Amino acid sequence: MLEVTILSKTHETADIMSYELASTDGSALPAFEAGSHIDVKVNEKILRQYSLYNAPKDHQTYKIAVLKDPNSRGGSLAVHDTFNVGDTIQISAPRNLFPLKHNTNRTVLFAGGIGITPLLSMAQVLDEQGNDFELHYFTRSKANTAFFEELNQSPFASNVFFHFNDQNTDKDRVLKHILDQENPSNKTAHLYTCGPNGFMDYIFDTARSLGWKDDNLHKEVFNAEPIVLDESDKSFTLNLVRSGISFDIPADKTVLEVLEAADIELDTSCEQGVCGSCITKVISGTPDHRDQFLTDSEKSLNNQFTPCCSRSLTDSLSIDL
Ligand code: FES
Repeated sequence: MLEVTILSKTHETADIMSYELASTDGSALPAFEAGSHIDVKVNEKILRQYSLYNAPKDHQTYKIAVLKDPNSRGGSLAVHDTFNVGDTIQISAPRNLFPLKHNTNRTVLFAGGIGITPLLSMAQVLDEQGNDFELHYFTRSKANTAFFEELNQSPFASNVFFHFNDQNTDKDRVLKHILDQENPSNKTAHLYTCGPNGFMDYIFDTARSLGWKDDNLHKEVFNAEPIVLDESDKSFTLNLVRSGISFDIPADKTVLEVLEAADIELDTSCEQGVCGSCITKVISGTPDHRDQFLTDSEKSLNNQFTPCCSRSLTDSLSIDL
């Protein structure tokens, strides 16, 4: 973890607070790419992921924005209530699970609410590189739109299109019009979306219905639904091959819970199957993949496993631990 100081705390809307972070000794921070996020240690029990919204050429600060979500599991409320200017906090180095593809002739960015953050960083990169792009930003109203002035005054203001729900926008028609224009038949435009899961699904479904290929569709997924164990889940035996230990994983516990209870340390971050921190090699058995990190083709190989959420389809699963 890195120690950083909170340089500023700003209300971007009534519910969204932005934070500017710098190293405690003023030195440069580790470099990052557009689309990257950092893990933020909110308190002893809570680690949360937030996208960086500043331009990667900025080596002195990381900027994050946090939506105060009344339905959150406590992370965003704690950040709003307890993080103040001058505080020292702990964060991870940036990681990028949502990278921009290079060498594309056209990029379309779709932000839903707080999902603007990684796309704002991407827009700055695309503009600096002189790439052809549009940023479509969907929010409830102008008052709920973080960075409205910043975007309007940016060098790429003419590439930004705001869509406010309270202006009776026919979202379906607008979206189809935008995606249709992109001429998916030439298969060269790439689409990136970040926002609530329902919003991203809606963007993907619409794009697919208009002929977009999955290879050209990209979404940020670290705001996954909490892991819920299913009533039909079964117990299985987990073998740690290098340690020579086996565990019974009961139906009502995750592998991570069982291993943590036995003081076996794993790299973890999201604990929701979205960040990939906990990935472990499979030696034998067939995993029941519950994560959103591995692609479908990676899952079909059945040689990697996410202990924070995935289970086993076979009676026993042997992993490289
Ligand atoms: S801890 Fe993030 S995928 Fe397992």
